[in-house]
Amino acid sequence: MVYQWLRPLLFLFPPEFIHERTFSLLKNPVLRFFLSKMYRYSHPSLRVTLSGIIDLQDPRAKLKSRGMEFENPIGLAAGFDKSGELLDRVHCLGFGFTEIGTVTPQPQEGNPKPRLFRLRRERALLNRMGFNNDGMREVKKRLAEKSQRRIPIGINIGKNRETPIEEAKEDYRQVLRELFEYGDYFAINVSSPNTPNLRTLQRKEILGSLLGGLKEENERLAKEMGLPPKPLFVKVSPDLSRGELDDIVEVTLKYGITGLIATNSTSNHSYQEISERSPLGKGGLTGPPLRERATEVIRYLYRKAQGRMVIIGVGGSATGEDAYEKIQAGASLIQIYTGLIYEGPSIVKKINRELKRLLERDGYSNICEAIGSKT
Ligand SMILES: Cc1cc2nc3c(=O)[nH]c(=O)nc-3n(C[C@H](O)[C@H](O)[C@H](O)COP(=O)(O)O)c2cc1C
Repeated sequence: MVYQWLRPLLFLFPPEFIHERTFSLLKNPVLRFFLSKMYRYSHPSLRVTLSGIIDLQDPRAKLKSRGMEFENPIGLAAGFDKSGELLDRVHCLGFGFTEIGTVTPQPQEGNPKPRLFRLRRERALLNRMGFNNDGMREVKKRLAEKSQRRIPIGINIGKNRETPIEEAKEDYRQVLRELFEYGDYFAINVSSPNTPNLRTLQRKEILGSLLGGLKEENERLAKEMGLPPKPLFVKVSPDLSRGELDDIVEVTLKYGITGLIATNSTSNHSYQEISERSPLGKGGLTGPPLRERATEVIRYLYRKAQGRMVIIGVGGSATGEDAYEKIQAGASLIQIYTGLIYEGPSIVKKINRELKRLLERDGYSNICEAIGSKT
């Protein structure tokens, strides 16, 4: 309610500026305490355990699935906390998990500003950030300092802009190695539209070679550190054809990847005549214009994978209905980004409450029963 009043004022300023200011407010532990009281929400029907699905792939998975329990299915999507600065802060907004990154080996500035734009009529965002982040070493320090875990932490990894695509594999490997012990899962980002040629890593042979290398590294590190291998996810673009999605499912299953994150932002600006109005240029579009397409991709991947992979659904969710639709299409967990900007800090609680009501309406005692119920 308060946010609906504040929003016009906040929206007078550039989006990146507001982003930085509002989140530095969360440094205040007293404010965090009150926000937690206001916004954290839990109910047994919202608890998600992924072991069932992970067990299918690997008999040792009892161990592997440790840490893959979620108090609620709503997570903060990658890109919001690129360098792990908000690790100890986002839980107070009620999130069930968070994904930091995209983290690259070397720090990088990203593209010149302005690079993040609001499309208010559509309640959408357009960004061409270009993986601005502090680099894996700085992120590691933060992860080590803030070792107290309140919610599971995913780490989204990528390559530096200057690294030629033929050498990208080594960048991903380095970040996995450096941050291995700190991630509850790792998301392999091969789908951002703002790093030149990154999306070519989604091609069957190239992806196979990347995943083969990461699987090997994952197992080697696990052995070395006496830990279970980390669940690996591949984050995919919404702009792929059915044939390309088929290839991704085939390759990810071949390499025993835990799951897919569907989807990243879209480069297709034809939605709702945005291209005609928008003088904003290139970038990834997010929020409601992406919602239907992201859900369609989730449904398609779920059918193809036939329960052998976990799907994290992301793209345009702003209400409990939106999140439920993605769960029924096959997502086990949901992430949000743009909705948080437009709806404000109460969004996670609102979605969770509405989800609980929808589950009750449909006679489910837990959200896991609803996964893939409308494919
Ligand atoms: C400003 C901005 C930066 C983003 N940066 C990343 C990123 O670094 N890595 C990534 O995998 N996704 C990134 N994303 C994509 C989101 O994680 C998410 O897939 C997308 O925004 C769709 O969800 P939404 O409609 O709820 O925003 C970014 C999105 C936005 C709006």
